[in-house]
Amino acid sequence: MAIMLWNSTYSVGVRELDDQHKGLIHMINEMHYAMNQDKGQEAISSIVEQMFDYMETHFSTEEAYLQKFGDPTLPAHQRQHEEFRGKARDLRQRVRQQEFILSFEIVQFLSDWLQNHIMVTDMKYASLLAQKGVH
Ligand SMILES: [Fe+2]
Ligand SMILES: [Fe+2]
Repeated sequence: MAIMLWNSTYSVGVRELDDQHKGLIHMINEMHYAMNQDKGQEAISSIVEQMFDYMETHFSTEEAYLQKFGDPTLPAHQRQHEEFRGKARDLRQRVRQQEFILSFEIVQFLSDWLQNHIMVTDMKYASLLAQKGVH
């Protein structure tokens, strides 16, 4: 069973960003599935690496939109991305050094973080981008 499902309430109204959010949700579900299936730490770690890379791509894409359209919430938004990057770096390091076994709590954390970030922070730019005719 998926830990998180995309639905239209997650839509920020911009196709490229919605597609990236869907991709991230998909990766979190893959991670969850790999753990449920006991795929082994190596397989799970590789999904984690991919997910963090894609998260990085997404943050850059999103920040570029906000920069381009002069979103006043950009600095606060960037701080949230930065905070997540810090956590991701730490997790990645620990996974690579094998000091850390990925747990369901981590997947739950990623899923909760993403859900909350999209619904609260990302949603703040939705109306501005809609006004600017971005879709
Ligand atoms: Fe964001
Ligand atoms: Fe986002």
